[in-house]
Amino acid sequence: MCGIVGYIGKKEAYPILIKGLKRLEYRGYDSSGVAIISDNQQLNVYKSKGKVSELESFVTQKDISGSIGIAHTRWATHGEPCSENAHPHYSSSESLALIHNGIIENYATLKEKLQTKGYTFRSSTDTEVLVQLIEYIKLTNNLDLLTAVQLALGEVIGAYAIAIIEKNNPDQIIAARKSSPLVVGIGEEEFFLASDATPIVEYTDKVVYLEDEEIAVIRRGKELKVVNLNNVEMTPEVKQVTLSLGQLEKGGYPHFMLKEIMDQPNSIYDCMRGRVNVESDNVVLSAVIDHKERLLAAKRFIIVACGTSWHAGLIGKQLIESFCRIPVEVEYASEFRYRDPVIHEGDVVLAISQSGETADTLAAVELARSRGAFIYGICNAIGSSIPRATHTGSYIHVGPEIGVASTKAFTGQVTVLTMLALTLAKEKQTIDHERFLEVMKELSAIPEKMKEILTLNDKIAELAKIFTYAHNFIYLGRGYSFPVALEGALKLKEISYIHAEGYPAAEMKHGPIALIDAEMPVVVIATQSHLYEKVLSNIQEIKARKGRVIALVTKGDKTISQLADISIELPSTLECLDPLLTTIPLQLLAYHIATCKGMDVDQPRNLAKSVTVE
Ligand code: G6P
Repeated sequence: MCGIVGYIGKKEAYPILIKGLKRLEYRGYDSSGVAIISDNQQLNVYKSKGKVSELESFVTQKDISGSIGIAHTRWATHGEPCSENAHPHYSSSESLALIHNGIIENYATLKEKLQTKGYTFRSSTDTEVLVQLIEYIKLTNNLDLLTAVQLALGEVIGAYAIAIIEKNNPDQIIAARKSSPLVVGIGEEEFFLASDATPIVEYTDKVVYLEDEEIAVIRRGKELKVVNLNNVEMTPEVKQVTLSLGQLEKGGYPHFMLKEIMDQPNSIYDCMRGRVNVESDNVVLSAVIDHKERLLAAKRFIIVACGTSWHAGLIGKQLIESFCRIPVEVEYASEFRYRDPVIHEGDVVLAISQSGETADTLAAVELARSRGAFIYGICNAIGSSIPRATHTGSYIHVGPEIGVASTKAFTGQVTVLTMLALTLAKEKQTIDHERFLEVMKELSAIPEKMKEILTLNDKIAELAKIFTYAHNFIYLGRGYSFPVALEGALKLKEISYIHAEGYPAAEMKHGPIALIDAEMPVVVIATQSHLYEKVLSNIQEIKARKGRVIALVTKGDKTISQLADISIELPSTLECLDPLLTTIPLQLLAYHIATCKGMDVDQPRNLAKSVTVE
């Protein structure tokens, strides 16, 4: 989704802006642009469709001088991806340039109003309407830029993170946010601005996360000033980011996605660090202990999430219901927020989000909170909007995830959900001690077992070649493995563009079985579980119709291995922890099929990493 970068200081802005845009490429985008006030006081705007590298080619021979600038990667919402619709947008007089992430919902009304005043528009975007509105208010009332921005934002309905610069004032960037993230980095006599901390960390670790309806007045050589729309001055809270540059780079891997898949033994270890303690036979999630009265009193949990995080939620439901005997509902945040859901005072809402910025999940949190629910966040991006909107929560601590297709965040989410279920069950006394110890010990052994699975990488890469030309795939699983089937299918479609469906294996006979023939690859998660025999029958049904079965089996399994066309042997674990292992070969399978097809796995078409618009 759109990415914002800004710089003001003593250095040349252009290289910092371009590097920043590249750091934000992972969010997903289709065009990019930059606006810089040059050394001779020109406000130059350069834009290009496609990758940031195309913007770089476009600006060769152009004046890119200047020590103040803003830059943007656009993920199209209003109007097709093209250079006219790319940001920054000029105002009519070309004295203002603005970049925007979000959606101005009442842009059509505002546009009509401006058209009656004689304004014309070069693009189909809502963003151009905003910059023209700011200019109109500024000129007609003879105001400074800050006041004009405050008044204009007062008229806007929707979500925004914006940054704006003014030709006649090369010493100031104005930036504002509502429901879309924005971070200001504070360096030595310089400031940085970005949608998240990733473009900032190589310059400074001091950041301020803007809150909704706050405006940052970023001035050369002066302190950062933050005001609200009514010009009341706020005290910015300076935070320290702990991200390192190494975490943001590929570390020798061809793609971030592969790096992140391979990182899982470490990331899961980090996720459990200080929480799962085998020596003292304990699992402690501090947020559960700190809020245990509220959590223990809950009659119901509701999980809200989107995409991969929703799949983790489906596993969380099974864990919490099984260990804690609390009913759990799992909702798509986008449906929940518009459904007038029944929320009781004592309900606990678990909001799961890697980015912590997904607009629908954030809105679901705000709705549930306004109706009296207690909100517990499970997020990865530290300091992002969802953790700030919740009552409490647990970070998954798996480090930055850059590949658009989520991998290590999923296993991190499932790990936190397991620790949450264990901690709560112990407090609630719904789990006997033996079982608690068994699950805890096995959980702590998961990173080593993940390492073993990752040694199958070459085998899976070979296997992928056979399926590069498949048009469809079915993924089947039951119980804890059903969400893994959904996640495996999602991974494949996201990055290889092969149509794939995940199904509960027993449901197959109510529809998808009609699709099965010798051309149809069917991935079946058939590891040891109390449903093993049932899954075996499901595989027989597929084989009877000549489907090609790729089975994930537990090491030493002879029965299914003989029946399946291809089997992948995995170390054994407890059924409730199996998703942490079975997910990995499916991530690798999707990755290798996509690379065989020559796809851009880290930035698949049309997808965004951080979906900050609904
Ligand atoms: C996008 C990403 C997915 C992610 C989903 C939810 O669609 O491409 O990988 O699962 O958003 O994102 P969240 O950050 O809330 O987990």
